[in-house]
Amino acid sequence: MPRQILYTSRAMSNRFDRDIPEILRCSRRNNPELGLTGILVFTGSTFIQILEGSPEHIDPVLDIISGDTRHADIRVLLDRMVEKRACGDWTMGFGLIDRHPGGRIGFLERMAHLSRDGSPAALDELVAMMAALGSERVREYA
Ligand SMILES: Cc1cc2nc3c(=O)[nH]c(=O)nc-3n(C[C@H](O)[C@H](O)[C@H](O)COP(=O)(O)O)c2cc1C
Repeated sequence: MPRQILYTSRAMSNRFDRDIPEILRCSRRNNPELGLTGILVFTGSTFIQILEGSPEHIDPVLDIISGDTRHADIRVLLDRMVEKRACGDWTMGFGLIDRHPGGRIGFLERMAHLSRDGSPAALDELVAMMAALGSERVREYA
């Protein structure tokens, strides 16, 4: 069974046009070898990332990511085993929250509500909401 992690972090760069494509390039280069999949969502100030894969492969990557100075204040909202990956075969999907049907505010409010709730159903909805952002232009940086 794959392990699924979801965390948020405060983005620290002032050059997102350069840094986000670079993060996606690294992820898409490294993750396939480790069988990791996921999606990275950028709100304009916060990263939200889902990482999925075998438990022993997630920890080392999370350690590397945690040391990356392009973000800070990592908060793991979800760490669980799942039957099925939410991100399919995306080596690292990418989404902007503007694409949420409720727009940026709708996404942030719903996310705050769901993470406060914290029940399995709420967390499932949060994961699905994230995955939906990446579904169309998933392989590209917007
Ligand atoms: C928000 C965020 C998410 C990241 N996600 C990944 C990831 O999924 N996989 C990965 O290999 N690197 C990821 N990185 C980059 C790593 O921190 C690190 O820079 C990279 O793994 C170094 O790869 P390299 O040794 O191949 O250059 C992420 C960085 C940030 C800031």
